[in-house]
Amino acid sequence: MLGKDESDLKKYGDKGTALIGRHIVGTGDDAHLTNYVHVDVTRPHVILVCGKRGTGKSYSAGTFVEEIARLPDDIRKNLAVLMIDTMGIYWSMKTPNERDAELLKTWGLKPEALDAKLFVPQAFKKEYEDSGVDVDSTFSFSPTDLTATDWIITFGFSPIDEHGIAIERIIKKVRKNMGNKYRIDDIIEEINADERTDKKIRDSLANRFSAAEEWGIFSEEGLSVEDLLAPGQISILDISHFTRTSGAWSVRSLVVGLLSSKIFQERLMARKKEEYGLMTGAMKKTIPMVWIMMDEAHQFLPAEGETAASGALLTLVKEGREPGISLLFITQMPNKLHPDALSQSDLIMSHRLTSAKDINALSSIMQTYMLGDIQDYINDLPRMKGAAIMLDDNSERIYPIQARPRLSWHAGGSPCAIKEKGLLGDDDE
Ligand SMILES: Nc1ncnc2c1ncn2[C@@H]1O[C@H](COP(=O)(O)OP(=O)(O)OP(=O)(O)O)[C@@H](O)[C@H]1O
Ligand SMILES: [Mg+2]
Repeated sequence: MLGKDESDLKKYGDKGTALIGRHIVGTGDDAHLTNYVHVDVTRPHVILVCGKRGTGKSYSAGTFVEEIARLPDDIRKNLAVLMIDTMGIYWSMKTPNERDAELLKTWGLKPEALDAKLFVPQAFKKEYEDSGVDVDSTFSFSPTDLTATDWIITFGFSPIDEHGIAIERIIKKVRKNMGNKYRIDDIIEEINADERTDKKIRDSLANRFSAAEEWGIFSEEGLSVEDLLAPGQISILDISHFTRTSGAWSVRSLVVGLLSSKIFQERLMARKKEEYGLMTGAMKKTIPMVWIMMDEAHQFLPAEGETAASGALLTLVKEGREPGISLLFITQMPNKLHPDALSQSDLIMSHRLTSAKDINALSSIMQTYMLGDIQDYINDLPRMKGAAIMLDDNSERIYPIQARPRLSWHAGGSPCAIKEKGLLGDDDE
């Protein structure tokens, strides 16, 4: 049992825990699987899943989500999951993993579809549907959600260069003139009217803002956090689409940043209502505790430099416990992830890593209770997909584990030139 403190363990036992895998005992050919490994998912946590390419990170992260979905209703309804899907791979979880039915049987499990909702950028709904993906809902933001700094960072300017200074002034003006209801067109109009700014800079800004329309994420209504984070709901937010727009990662970061700060605000409010409810017995409607997970976390919250998401994510990392926000970061390169995200992680699941820099990054935060070299633990892992070490801050111990097979279909594997026979009834070409 990982991630649960003594008193919760006494009070709740293994209620509200996720079955992640089995303990590996022995090394090399002698390695065998023993006890089942459960991880607490009912208290706020920061979990880091790392490992080299193709070692099972996205797969294991999906397992955490499956487990939250399998919690008893009375626990599950107090949680909501937001999966930030950077690769567009998680929609496949709505299909049972028939491919691994035999393997699942050895674990006493059966293929099972995940009950999840797929959200895509409003403007691209049709494209997804045309390619055969079942879309449940769309997301969009109102331009009024963005501060001047959000625009500046997303466009790649600095608050102190000419462009940045002009944006700051223009957004202030639009706000003053139009209050909290304006569209990108209104910003462009204000840019064109801004005589104080050099014509060349005005033109370049106007271009940027019209290009922003093409990101396909803006609408007047904006986003309803209640829809995205309904009690017990698993929401997959596909932001893989932005590869074709210039600066894909800056637009993705903007989306993650806007969401993170909205969720933080909503949960702070929700906590007040929950406390009020506890004191008076009068329960008010709130959004549940939230799990936010993201692949390629070092792109959003890098060790060096700033993105449109890093401020909001750092706030969640440092202050998310109180409002009940959990994070699950996935990265190939823990060394490139912001050190605060590393040091605040209370559970690390590390698949095979080989770069000395990345191993050192892990060692540096676990040194307080590490007996041996982390490299040795990793070397001892059997060479199987899904083998990992778990570093648990709560028990201050390290466990080698084999991650359990997935109940739902994983679409993130590498393509193979030799085609498998289709399992869904239709022919694979
Ligand atoms: N626990 C597991 N049991 C069985 N197979 C697994 C397990 N974990 C991973 N695999 C297999 O390994 C493949 C690669 O896993 P995954 O897509 O999670 O890699 P990744 O670490 O996210 O790679 P990348 O860094 O390229 O995103 C999966 O498609 C799956 O076939
Ligand atoms: Mg992956």
